[in-house]
Amino acid sequence: MKFKEKVLVIGSSGQIGGELVEGLRSIYGNDHVIASDIKDLSKDEIKKIAPYETLNVLNSKRVFEIVKKYEITQVYLLAALLSATAEKNPMFAWDLNMNGLFNILELAKEGHIKKLYWPSSIAVFGPTTPRQNTPQFTIMEPNTVYGISKQTGERWCEYYYNKYHVDVRSLRYPGLIGYKSAPGGGTTDYAVHIYHEAIKHGKYECFLSENTSLPMMYMPDAIKATLDLMHADSDKIKIRSSYNLSGMSFSPKEIAQEITKHYPDFKITYKTDNRQTIAESWPQSIDDSVAQRDWGWKARFDLQKMTSDMIKHLKGSI
Ligand code: SER
Repeated sequence: MKFKEKVLVIGSSGQIGGELVEGLRSIYGNDHVIASDIKDLSKDEIKKIAPYETLNVLNSKRVFEIVKKYEITQVYLLAALLSATAEKNPMFAWDLNMNGLFNILELAKEGHIKKLYWPSSIAVFGPTTPRQNTPQFTIMEPNTVYGISKQTGERWCEYYYNKYHVDVRSLRYPGLIGYKSAPGGGTTDYAVHIYHEAIKHGKYECFLSENTSLPMMYMPDAIKATLDLMHADSDKIKIRSSYNLSGMSFSPKEIAQEITKHYPDFKITYKTDNRQTIAESWPQSIDDSVAQRDWGWKARFDLQKMTSDMIKHLKGSI
């Protein structure tokens, strides 16, 4: 049955998008997965990722046209402004993160698509949330624009499920780390840049302080979690707001120590900026036992395994 699905990925040029398109195409076949992004790609770039459509998720008419043109059955909506960028442009972040979601929820409500994936984030938590092993259900008072938009989005997803039976599924991603694409404007981006800089220059100036521990996940785990969630039987998905998801937790000092095992001369220095305040409002570790129980989630990568794999793949390419 899976192969009858036609999937639209919105935000395919982003950090998760490219890898998710790859993962989905290996399951559904190339022509069954349509990549789309607001970016105007060159002819050569389009050739590599085709089928591809230039798409602004805020243009609901064009989203509808594309859904009809390709007979789309599932949407993965990844287009969003992340935490640091959203603080610089709060009104646009709110518009994109909320109205983008509403456009797809409405399509699902009207029966034009059958299933929707929408990512949430550890940013839904805030300074009053318990920071260690943050439970699935807890105090949530986010104080960033991004966090407020994700928490509100979660409430609306659950509402559309309860009220209109929209099959919407979501994960609260921790910071994501991968070698295939660059992150775009998040507080956890340092954990990607640090590998590039270690390999290229043997040093890195970190915008978070040395003991700022945050929940993180290696991209292959994040893609697997996303696909596992979307392929689980609907009756197993008990949470329609968003699932806690945990991979590993580490601080800049700890990731630097791990990198030193591969590059003994590697040096990290610290110069914090406003992202430090954002990081301090987020949990340090996440309890994802509900995801484990409901649909069998288990992460495979820890800091050591991820570091070896990142360095192995990046070494030849930068
Ligand atoms: N990685 C994201 C950010 O830092 C969190 O969802 O904004």
